[in-house]
Order: sequence, then structure tokens, then C-alpha cells
Amino acid sequence: MKLSKVRGTRDLLRVSAFAMTKVIQTGQNLLLTAGFQPVFLPILEREDLFQHSLGDGSDIVMKEMFKVHDPSGNQIVLRPEGTVGCMRAYLEACPGECVKWQYSGSMFRRERPQQGRYREFVQLGAEVIGLPSQSFVDVELIQLGAELLDLLGIQAELRINTLGVVAERQQYIEALKRYFGQNKDKLSLISQERLGRSPLRILDSKEPQDRLLLDSAPRLSEYLLPRSKGFFQDVLSSLKTLKIKYVEDPWLVRGLDYYSHTCYEFINDGRAVLAGGRYDSLAEELGAKRQIPSSGWAAGVDRLAELLKPEEQKTIGVVALCKAGDQVCYDLVPTLRRQLGTSYSVVMVPGGLSAGKSLQLVNKLQASLSIIVGEDELKSSNFQLKDMKTGLQTTHPMSDLPGLIRRITGVN
Ligand code: HAM
Repeated sequence: MKLSKVRGTRDLLRVSAFAMTKVIQTGQNLLLTAGFQPVFLPILEREDLFQHSLGDGSDIVMKEMFKVHDPSGNQIVLRPEGTVGCMRAYLEACPGECVKWQYSGSMFRRERPQQGRYREFVQLGAEVIGLPSQSFVDVELIQLGAELLDLLGIQAELRINTLGVVAERQQYIEALKRYFGQNKDKLSLISQERLGRSPLRILDSKEPQDRLLLDSAPRLSEYLLPRSKGFFQDVLSSLKTLKIKYVEDPWLVRGLDYYSHTCYEFINDGRAVLAGGRYDSLAEELGAKRQIPSSGWAAGVDRLAELLKPEEQKTIGVVALCKAGDQVCYDLVPTLRRQLGTSYSVVMVPGGLSAGKSLQLVNKLQASLSIIVGEDELKSSNFQLKDMKTGLQTTHPMSDLPGLIRRITGVN
């Protein structure tokens, strides 16, 4: 048997795994501080859940879902995204409540794999469901998205648009069909095909010949009623108040059908790293009797992790060179772990091995620095500090340890 991973999937190890963890932990902690409770939802969902909600003509529904073979004949898929599952869980478990949820985990789309686009990828998502449809909910979510990127040190441009409500959009889609229909032979092949099933998607086509046609294409803003216009203006003026920079993009439509009103993407180097919007009518699509105000975003953890400076968690070794040194070292380990938090890991090698073997072992555990306690150090209440790279070894009083570690690591 040839060992190989499935196309479009990845083994994330070492620095890549560390970066993924950093993105997820930073996001989870940020969202917790804003009251977003963690939820764990299934990766397996019924196929029909996504069919109408994402749009029958959407790329995901048409060709990107991974179907799972279930001998009982149930039509099951690996979730392509998290929002629809959140709404399903909300309608099943707590309809009528007001929830702020966060989740992270793998999503699956059968896209053509390339750098930053995978068939299995991780999203960190934030959803607010059931809170009255107010612009401040969207603004708080955008602010959190911007803060997450800031905490990670990632630059991205916020592009924002409004998609109005279903009735307004329907009229607009008719106008688009007329306009693009009259210019069909000037459209790219992919857009000609989209004209029938998903004309809005022509708006975010990257094909130069399609972009040329956009200059004279009708704009959704011409079809918005005062309420939708007002909602969007409220969002934009709050963003100004919060000094969050944005670019209005009338051609931003997103590839999922459930959005209404605000939609946005944070773009880094031409690629969305965090995206979302309002989806008040999704609940109705899933069978609820009325609309349920909802808004949220999902961050592409793989893409964000790839933008971080590669770093590994550093390790400090605590080495007892004699059995009598074990107790001192066992006491040191938790104290050091508390002092250093997660920026360093602390590992211990107890006494019993020869000095050479102990240091070989701590080297294998990737320690960059070792604190060594042997018989001489025990007698004099000292310790040896060894730089594992240069081999430089110095002796210090035990009482100096916290200050010395602070100076060397920069962790307070
Ligand atoms: P989305 O734009 O499809 O929205 O995905 C959100 C983010 O996931 C993208 O901006 C991108 O960073 C990442 N992403 C998407 N596909 C891939 C892929 N194949 N490989 C790597 N990263 C990818 C949603 O999924 C919505 N559920 C967002 C949302 C939440 N809207 C409201 N609430």
C-alpha cells in the first residue's frame, strides 16, 4: 500500500501546528471576553440542510460537498461550513433564545487545491443568533474580526457591502439577468454558465472581460428601499466612529445565498482571511416560521496561520543529576511553568542517568536552555544554567532563578 494523504488535506506538524494553535487560541480567548460561548457541533450533517440555504446554484452545493457513504441510505455530507449547522442546532435546541456562539473545527469543500485553499481546512467562527436585527451587532462582530487580526499582527483590508433583503435582491437579480443577457457573448465562459444559475456571482468574477462589463452594470444600491439603505449607513457610520477603516465594494456578493444586509471580507494579498455577514432569512430557509435575526463571521485559520512569522514553542529543561536533586527539580517545574505561561514548555529529566545521558535526553526534547542540579549544587543551593546551543554553562544561586529566567526569556 502506498502511504499518501488524501488530495487537498495536510498534516500540520511543528511550526505549522503551533501557528494554527496560536490563531485558534487567540480567537477563542478574544471571543470569550466578548461573551461568545463555545459550541461543538457535528462534522456530519444531512445533505439537504445545505441545499437551499447555501443556494442550489452555489459552487459548494453544485460540486464541492463531500458525500459520506451511509449504508442506511441517509444522505450525509461533511460540513462545508459552520453557520448552517449553528442555525440547525439553534432551532433544535434553543429556538427563541438569544445566543452568541463560537466554534472551531474542520470544514470540507472539494475545491481545486492550491496554496491557501484546501479540501479540509479549519475555520474559527462567531455567530450571534436571536438578538434583534440591529446594526450594532454587525459592527461588534466586525470590530472583533479586526481585533483578532490585530492581535495576530496581520494586515487586511476590510471590504464591505450590503445585499439588502430578499425582495430587493430578487428585483436586482432580474435587472442583472437582463443586462448580462444583452451582453452574453462578452462574458467569460464561466460567467455565461453562472448567468443561468447564480448571476450575482458574476459580480465577483476575476475574469478581465467580466470586470469590463461591470462598469455599466446595474448596482444593488439602486434597488434598496430606505430601511436597507439606513441599516447599511448605520453600520458604516459606527465603523467610522470606531476608526475601523473599510472600503465599500458594490461587487462583493459572497458565495453563499443566505446573506442579507451587511456582508464583508477582510482581504490580505487578494485572499479573504475572515468573512461573514448578516443572515436573517436563513432560519426560514431551514423551516422556521419566521425570520430570526442573525449575524456572524468565520476566519480561515489555515490562511491566518500561514501569515504568521514561523515560531516554535521553546523548551526549558530541568535536569537532576542525582536522585537527591529530584525534589528540588520537581518543585521548580510547576513554579517555572506558572512563571512562563505557554510561551515556553518546561520538561524535567529526573536523576538516575549519567550526566551525559541526561543532557542527551534533554537535547532530544529540544530544550534551548537547561537548569541543572547535581550534588555540588544541592550542597551550595546553586544551579547550573546551560545554553544548549553554545554549550556555555554558568553557576548561579537558586534565589536568582526567577529574575534570571525573566531576563533571558523576556516573560514577566
Ligand atoms: P466563507 O467565506 O465561505 O464563509 O469562509 C470563511 C473563510 O474560511 C474564508 O474567508 C477563508 O479564509 C476560509 N476558507 C474558505 N474556504 C477555504 C478553503 N478551501 N481553504 C482554506 N480556507 C478556506 C463561510 O464559511 C461562512 N460560514 C462565514 C459566516 C459565518 N457567515 C456568517 N457567519
